[in-house]
Order: sequence, then C-alpha cells, then structure tokens
Amino acid sequence: MLTLEEKFRELEKRNREARLGGGQERIDKQHSAGKLTARERVELLLDKGTFVEKDKMVKHRCNDFGMEKNKIAGDGVVSGYGKIDGRLVFVFAQDFTVFGGTLSSANAEKITKVMDMAMRMGAPVIGLNDSGGARIQEGVQSLAGYADIFHRNVKASGVIPQISAVLGPCAGGAVYSPALTDFIIMTKESSYMFVTGPDVIKAVTHETVTKEELGGAMTHNSKSGVAHLIGDDEEQTLMMIRELTGFLPSNNMEDPPQKPVTDDINREDESLQNLVPADPNKPYDMMTIIESVVDDHNFFEIMPHYAKNIITGFGRLAGKTVGIVANQPAFLAGVLDINSSVKAARFVRFCDAFNIPLITLVDVPGFLPGTNQEFGGIIKHGAKLLYAFSEATVPKITLITRKAYGGAYDVMASKHIGGDINLAYPTAEIAVMGPEGAVNIIFRHKISDEEKASAVEDYRDTFANPYKAAELGYIDEIIYPRETRKKLISALEMSQNKSVSGPSRKHGNIPL
Ligand code: HXC
Repeated sequence: MLTLEEKFRELEKRNREARLGGGQERIDKQHSAGKLTARERVELLLDKGTFVEKDKMVKHRCNDFGMEKNKIAGDGVVSGYGKIDGRLVFVFAQDFTVFGGTLSSANAEKITKVMDMAMRMGAPVIGLNDSGGARIQEGVQSLAGYADIFHRNVKASGVIPQISAVLGPCAGGAVYSPALTDFIIMTKESSYMFVTGPDVIKAVTHETVTKEELGGAMTHNSKSGVAHLIGDDEEQTLMMIRELTGFLPSNNMEDPPQKPVTDDINREDESLQNLVPADPNKPYDMMTIIESVVDDHNFFEIMPHYAKNIITGFGRLAGKTVGIVANQPAFLAGVLDINSSVKAARFVRFCDAFNIPLITLVDVPGFLPGTNQEFGGIIKHGAKLLYAFSEATVPKITLITRKAYGGAYDVMASKHIGGDINLAYPTAEIAVMGPEGAVNIIFRHKISDEEKASAVEDYRDTFANPYKAAELGYIDEIIYPRETRKKLISALEMSQNKSVSGPSRKHGNIPL
C-alpha cells in the first residue's frame, strides 16, 4: 500500500508530466519558432495566479496507428478559467507540443466542457488557436469534435462574448470555430488561416501563393475581413484581448462594466469648431472627433485595416462603453460600399446583442457607384447595415457632421429607423444627393452653364444644410462642434433605461 507521502508524490509527478505537454524538446522547438507554449499564453492572458486548469489528466482514447502507445496528459489543449481585470473568463489554448495541438475527441470534449461552463456561468470564452487541425488518426471522431464546438459557438453567439486568437496554424474546417466567434485576433507572421492551403491551391487552380500571402494576419485583417485585429507579437495579441474584454459585459443579460470617470464630462474642445472644412469636397479625419470626445481620448478600433471608409470601435463616455460607427471622409470620401456595409453591420449587431449603446457619426456622400459594386451585391450588403441599425434596440445616438445624402442618410441610424437622439453640426448637408448631381438631373439639357451654377447655389442654400431636417423634427438639435462630448454624454444618460420590445418571432431574416 502506498504511503500518504507517496500518493502526494504521485500527484506531483503527474502534474509535472502534464505541465510538460509534448516534452522539453518540443517546447524548445515551439520557442525557437518564436512562439510561446499554451500554458505561457494562458499565464500572460489572465491576471497573475488566477488560472484554474481543468482536465489536466485527460488522455485520448485512440488505439489506431500506434496511438495506444502514445498518450500524453492534457491531450493537446490547456483549458480552464481565470480572471481578466478581476472578471471571470473561460479559456482554452491548443498545445502545439502535443500532437501539433490537433483535435481529438477527448480534446474536443475538454473544449466543449469550458464552453458549456462559460454559458452556464455567463462569462466570455477565449480560444487560443494553434493547431494542425483534425487529428488524422482519429478520423471522423475528430470531425465530430469540431462540429460539437461549432454547434456551441452558434448557441453561445449573442449570449456570451467569444474571442479567438490565432497564434499558429488554423487550417481546413478548423477555421470555422474562430469564424463563428465575435472577434478574431491574429499575430503577425506566425499565424495563418485558410480552408485549403497553398499546395491544394497549386494543384487545383495552378496559382502559386505563400502561406503568409494566402492566410497571414495582414491578409485577413486588410483583404478578406476575416480577422478584426492584428498583434505584432503574441504578447501584444494577448494584451489586446485583455483590453477588448474590458469594454464588454460578461454576458447579454449584463450591462458593460462601468469604469470610474477620470475625464470631465463637460469637457469642450475648441479645436473641433474648425475641423469640418467649409468646402464640402475637402476631406478631414473623423478620428479626430472620435478621439476628442471619448473618455481620456481612448478609442479601441475594431478592423482598423479593413474598409477604412468606415470606422468601428469601442470607447467610453462618462465611464460607460459605447460602440462607435463613423464614416471616414478621409478615405474614399466616407462612401458606403460592400465591405464597409458588412464591416459596420456586424459590429452594430454585436453591440446590440451585448447592450452597448451605439454612437453613429455621419459624413457619407452615398453608396459607391460602379459595376463592381452592383455585381458584387451592394444591394444586399448595404441592406445588411440598414437591417442591423433598424433592428438594434440599444440606445442609438447619431450625429451628422457633414454629408448625409440619399439612402445612406436613412441607413446611418437616422431618426426614421429608430435613432433616439439625432444631432447635427451646422455644417451638415442632408439631402437626396449633392447639389451638382441634383441640378444635373432636375435641369438636364434645359439650362446654360451659368444658370446651372446659380441653380447649384440655390439648391445648396435650400437643402445642403441641417435646417430643413430640423424643421421636420428629423434632427433633434443642431449643436456646436466644441460641445460634442457633453451632448453625446447627455443623450446617453437620457437613454440609459431605454426599453423596446418588438413582436414575437423566431428570428428575422437578415439579407445574407
Ligand atoms: C495528427 C498531426 C497533425 C494532424 C500535425 N501533426 N498535424 N498529427 N494529425 N493533422 C503532428 C505532427 O505529426 C508532429 O508530430 C506535430 O504534430 C508537429 O507537426 P510538424 O509537422 O512537425 O510541425 P510544423 O512543421 O510546424 O508543421 C505544422 C503543420 C503540419 C503545418 C500544421 O504539421 C501540417 O501540415 N499538418 C497537417 C495539417 C492537416 O492536413 N490537417 C488536417 C486538415 S483538415 P511529432 O510527434 O513529430 O511532434 C481538417 C479538417 C477539419 O482539419 C474539419 C472540421 C470540420
């Protein structure tokens, strides 16, 4: 019979083995590839000393291809829970040192267990992905494990925030779990995601492409729009997750966390008075307004490298999280196109699901014309943004800084689709289209160039201002730019107990 001391030593030995994962040699290989191990990542992500590991002793149950002789405690994923800034989060980190972090049925059960716990406890789930995909020796059991994860990703959508970091390979069907989560953050140069890799592409389409070009961090942050953020290295990637979770409620039944207010809520910014140029064709940087008004000038941008004609991200006003959606006149004149519509629609729906009020800053000349856009389905993609803003029941506060033309005026959280407070600067121009376009249509072939110039002036005076809309009650108040922060805070305060309920239905049918 073992003595008590021997039993404790046995536990110590087993814990030590589990902590070593695939062994020192593979840990060294991971480090020499410039990557951290799963445990090192979890330690960095969570508040010091808060990680509670689950299922450290789990081993796979595969007896094919000699696998019965190769069982490693933990089986390629480190999972459990801990805290970020004192708040509970659940986490799983694929351990590349154990069978390349691949998914076995036992390993999938560890992941679904923390996902189920996260749902029951109402806390975010964070996945750190670094894996060779399906564990080939387990065949369909591995595929079943993936599907079990996907199913839970969907069930958890809109209930708890789900965040994925991609810190190594993530290929084949494995990409679909991160894709179903709310945010994907990739690390520069060491991560990649694709459904089929360069070799398959070469064989099928004869295209030559590197892994980095095909599915690297910058590709997915700037070209495909699959990823939302990019970290220079793993540490920065993990710190971004910490910062992001700080803006979010733990679940859809809670409000976002309230931070102590360290910035004067009545702070005015004189420099905003002259920001919007008198010439409507001159660009300016909408980011200046955003950074001026949010608490401590701290704005956390989401998808900064994709569809730069629209800005999305989180900030705080009087300590409360807000989601900001803003046309960017400094890029493509702030026009709405396919990519910017989809980018903003997804962001709006996230904010609405998680009780985050929406601040919409508008300077939009309309939808982008062109066959590319029409053939690409701008009608259905633009409709996504219209749908998202219309269905959102969180407080919606809109400020038109300059152009709000055509359908884009309606789309950008106008009064008519449920804007709670709609503000405008005196520089706002709210009309069916710009003066030149309008005159060309109304007086086509009918007037001389001189008459046209005077008709343009006439149209500008009549419509290219906020007063017509204000007369009709579509704009609640015309404000001075310097007072933007306090006006937004006051509108937010007024609308904080907003409650709206619609007719009962299974779900709407967003134009996908
Ligand atoms: C089992 C695997 C594995 C896999 C890697 N390993 N992929 N074991 N199943 N899919 C093992 C390797 O044998 C090796 O074990 C260890 O993991 C590390 O792999 P290396 O090849 O040495 O590492 P590296 O050179 O960095 O290359 C990593 C890699 C490569 C690019 C991921 O291993 C690779 O291409 N693997 C195959 C990927 C793949 O085809 N997966 C299936 C995709 S389909 P040892 O013991 O030597 O350390 C899929 C479907 C999902 O995932 C469907 C969901 C619906």
